[in-house]
Amino acid sequence: MIKVALMGHGVVGSGVAEILEEKASSLKQKAGDDLYCSKILDLRDFPDTAYADRFTKNFDDIASDDSIQIVVEAMGGLHPAYEFVKTCMERGKSVVTSNKELVAEKGAELLALAKEKNVNFFFEASVGGGIPIIRPMHLCLAANRIDKVYGILNGTTNFILTKMIKEQMTFQDALSLAQQLGYAEKDPSADVDGVDACRKICILASLAFGKHVYPKEVYTEGISKITLEDVAYAQSAGYVVKLIGQAKRIADGKNEVMVSPAFVPVENQLSGVDDVFNGVLVKGDETGDVMFYGKGAGKLPTASAVVADVVHIAKSSGTSQSLTWEDSNADTVADISDYENAFYYRLNGPVAKEEIVSLFGAVTYLSRQGQPDDETAFLTGPMKESRAREAEQKLNGIKILGKIRLIG
Ligand code: HSE
Repeated sequence: MIKVALMGHGVVGSGVAEILEEKASSLKQKAGDDLYCSKILDLRDFPDTAYADRFTKNFDDIASDDSIQIVVEAMGGLHPAYEFVKTCMERGKSVVTSNKELVAEKGAELLALAKEKNVNFFFEASVGGGIPIIRPMHLCLAANRIDKVYGILNGTTNFILTKMIKEQMTFQDALSLAQQLGYAEKDPSADVDGVDACRKICILASLAFGKHVYPKEVYTEGISKITLEDVAYAQSAGYVVKLIGQAKRIADGKNEVMVSPAFVPVENQLSGVDDVFNGVLVKGDETGDVMFYGKGAGKLPTASAVVADVVHIAKSSGTSQSLTWEDSNADTVADISDYENAFYYRLNGPVAKEEIVSLFGAVTYLSRQGQPDDETAFLTGPMKESRAREAEQKLNGIKILGKIRLIG
């Protein structure tokens, strides 16, 4: 029997406990041994669960129990998750986590520790919920140099944008609905400001490039400034607005990594990823684009990824099969001013065409139903971020009502 401990009995943790309990016999077949959840750490009481007698409020009950081989961390947040995970690995236990903040901030260090202690540190559930993405990128695409990985990594913002696009709901109304349905937190900032997507693209970028990409290095913009007017202009030109995390390999060992709303052409597979679903495109030098799609959040999809990691560890006990990436200083991510993008602009003024061309180069004008006379919207060609900012500063007295990058 392989004893598993669970830290955190919230949405994901309770799903893990349920799956381990309800699917015990099929998991035994897959893992080659019984997987028994012997202790659950949580400060709350859960007297109505089938495993109420296994709860503890004391981390040391898990850390000092040598019979526990695998610990699942589903507490979320950086502290004390980081300290607990480190202690478990130092004591020879493998760890599975769904905690993207932990992996995005401490991944390189914890992977090195796993190797040193000959244990495993797996985190399939940290990106894309139930979608297998970490292991496929690490193992199934091993023959490839990953040149680009980008996608819709946050279900809550994708739900909000879908409601804006398909039902013309305002951002605020769509956010309230997401909160009512339990997708968005009462404080929705981690989702709507792009912080959650940033952590996830950091994990995928670190995996793709073999060097840790830290959230503080990544330009991150959320969706709270997106309006129905922007959505209408996008639709008029064959695009939909999505929150995209992207990481692209460029020259000299540098990479472009950012999170921002983007005009996605309707021909791109990501344009059809709606509601709370996630979609990720990985471009390998041998495979070309490979698409991953599925439920990026939720109790059972996320718990499914956690339990798969537990099974993998059970089958490889006594070895360290975790992927590795190097730690890095601030030289992995290129400065955003050098990124090249095409842009959508919405301005509050009829600006002379000559002026637009002199500032932004040749543009394509857009129109929408109900467009006021004093509103100008257009798409630029590819230009450096720094040049776009210079052009904006020269727009004397003209207010920028909307600015969104285009993605191919
Ligand atoms: N808040 C996240 C989302 C949950 O909406 O995608 C999964 O990380």
